[in-house]
Amino acid sequence: MSKSALITGITGQDGSYLTELLLSKGYTVHGLVRRSSSFNTGRIDHLYEDPHEENRSLVLHHADLSDGVAMVNLLRDLRPDEVYNLGAQSHVRVSFDSPLYTGDVTGMGTLRLLEAIRASGIDTRIYQASSSEMFGAAPPPQNEHTPFHPRSPYGCAKVFGYWATVNYREAYDLFAVNGILFNHESPRRGETFVTRKISRAVARIHAGLQDTLYLGNLEAVRDWGYAPEYVEAMWRMLQHDTPDDYVVATGEAGTVRAFLTEAFAVVGRDWREHVEFDAKYERPSEVDALIGDAGKIETVLGWKPTVLWPDLARLMVQADISALEAELTGATVRIDR
Ligand SMILES: NC(=O)c1ccc[n+]([C@@H]2O[C@H](COP(=O)([O-])OP(=O)(O)OC[C@H]3O[C@@H](n4cnc5c(N)ncnc54)[C@H](OP(=O)(O)O)[C@@H]3O)[C@@H](O)[C@H]2O)c1
Repeated sequence: MSKSALITGITGQDGSYLTELLLSKGYTVHGLVRRSSSFNTGRIDHLYEDPHEENRSLVLHHADLSDGVAMVNLLRDLRPDEVYNLGAQSHVRVSFDSPLYTGDVTGMGTLRLLEAIRASGIDTRIYQASSSEMFGAAPPPQNEHTPFHPRSPYGCAKVFGYWATVNYREAYDLFAVNGILFNHESPRRGETFVTRKISRAVARIHAGLQDTLYLGNLEAVRDWGYAPEYVEAMWRMLQHDTPDDYVVATGEAGTVRAFLTEAFAVVGRDWREHVEFDAKYERPSEVDALIGDAGKIETVLGWKPTVLWPDLARLMVQADISALEAELTGATVRIDR
């Protein structure tokens, strides 16, 4: 019998790659999609199956992490073997503007999902998308033993979700795991996250459509990995004999400034001629350096990243150049990396 999985956040960067991975393994994938007045399924449109087809392997359901009853009903009906909680208000800067919403969806949403599993009485395994932002001000390298010191409403909400997950494992013997993922990017990364903002701007500057890119703190040090490799780590955590928490990172970090240098080099330009500072992109409290030690997941689950951030910067710029060229010539492209 093939397995089934429910993914919250299926329309996001990670949700789309995880869906591809699970479908390739023969899973039936159910995705939780929130209601929007415009289409929000662009990242998974290439996987879409008509609702009138029989035996679909990808099925989408309207629900929201703020609606606990809808999640109980969904879980009771679907009884998935695995649940991946990727849904969140996931933008750190935005969490300062919408702290209560972020706390509700990113923090309480996790508890609602855990409680929905318990209330529906189903036997399932759950993956919680925890974040390196939980470490915040704790000095690097950070691993599973590093104390949390979040520096944003987003980080605080993720700490709540992390401990709720640990608590349901300890209290109810639920197979519940936290993946503490460091930043991971791809051509499908949201356009307002700094790496994608840079790669899109490089493509547009190269095409003569834009001249200036406005950014905030260039000195932040981040450990950027490649999203398709990180969803493989999520899946491995749920296949292990025992539930546990793992850091997922490359261990190689750079500053935003270094990422800029690498990205602009793809088109032979100097970023200093195009980048200007805008204080609105700074955070009230910054996270200086996140560099992960992923030794545990390599030892226990055999997971190891292969794409480091300089390659990632090049890959993202090249993808955005191709996408823009296709857009300008009216061709259709699928972002399949
Ligand atoms: N990418 C990283 O570097 C990173 C690192 C550590 C942890 N994480 C966490 O990993 C998860 C996946 O990251 P990502 O980069 O794929 O994020 P993303 O692209 O921003 O996707 C977030 C997903 O959550 C959905 N969502 C937002 N609010 C919701 C709500 N109220 N109810 C249900 N769904 C809702 C979004 O739906 P719409 O498409 O409708 O907006 C989207 O599908 C997130 O929880 C994120 O916080 C990410």
